[in-house]
Amino acid sequence: MAPLDITTESNQRTLGVRIDGMDLTGPLGDDVVAEIRNLWMRHAVIVFSDQDITPDQHLAFARRFGALQSHTVTDILHPDYPELLVLSNRGRGGAKPINNGGAYWHSDITYEVEPPMGSILHGFIVPPADGDTLYVDMTAAYEFLDEDLKVKLDGVQAVHTYRHRYELMVEAGVRPPQPDEKMAEWGDVLHPVVRTHPETGQKALFVNEGFTARIDGWSDDESRRLLSRLYQHCMEDRFIYRHQWRSNDLVMWDNRCTMHCATPYDLSHERSMHRATIRGNLPV
Ligand code: OGA
Ligand code: MN
Repeated sequence: MAPLDITTESNQRTLGVRIDGMDLTGPLGDDVVAEIRNLWMRHAVIVFSDQDITPDQHLAFARRFGALQSHTVTDILHPDYPELLVLSNRGRGGAKPINNGGAYWHSDITYEVEPPMGSILHGFIVPPADGDTLYVDMTAAYEFLDEDLKVKLDGVQAVHTYRHRYELMVEAGVRPPQPDEKMAEWGDVLHPVVRTHPETGQKALFVNEGFTARIDGWSDDESRRLLSRLYQHCMEDRFIYRHQWRSNDLVMWDNRCTMHCATPYDLSHERSMHRATIRGNLPV
């Protein structure tokens, strides 16, 4: 097979490579999928240009990397394809409109016991400017922590929950209210603050502003101090890749070793995307 046409999109040392000239709409050989997987594990955020891909083709591509999962909030799912989340400020396709969804630092669905391995986001209508998505390399962020802090974090766990974030999003008018029974389903789950990537063996920080409520067993004050110190460190430019969307970019990220954050744009422009989400396993 010919080598993939790859360019580096950022000055970040790992994240953000763009792959041109590939067609992901049809069946792919196992060798191609293996090569993509290698690239993905090496770079954690990879971008395929010019993917004019249908929902069926998007899902078929995503399934080559694992079983898919849906989202707990059902009114933002594609009405005909429940494994696709619709991020559209126009409610394209009949899902509830979302303005600036994911505009806080997070890794997808860490409030579940087994958070997803990764997400594959297809931006088929993107605004002419802004609405970038920022990514942080949580492997590098961990690597460059002070040694004494690394020792201190060993074996420490954090509490993750969706409830608090969802309440904030309803208040901000970016998500529809949910019945109390639904909110009650979103309990607390515990994850290690530092997880070991099951494929690369590298350690990465695994806390995020979106869903991490507190450090388990620490006082509120100590917990807040640690989390804000970690977030401040992660936000350093050297760990960040800014993805500037082109129409029909398909962006694939590893949820186990990155965080991401949507940024604002002029809402008079349409921004519509579909996300497929690949199941993961218990963080350790
Ligand atoms: C997501 C997400 C950010 C964006 O799809 O999981 O957080 O910029 N998207 O739309
Ligand atoms: Mn997200």
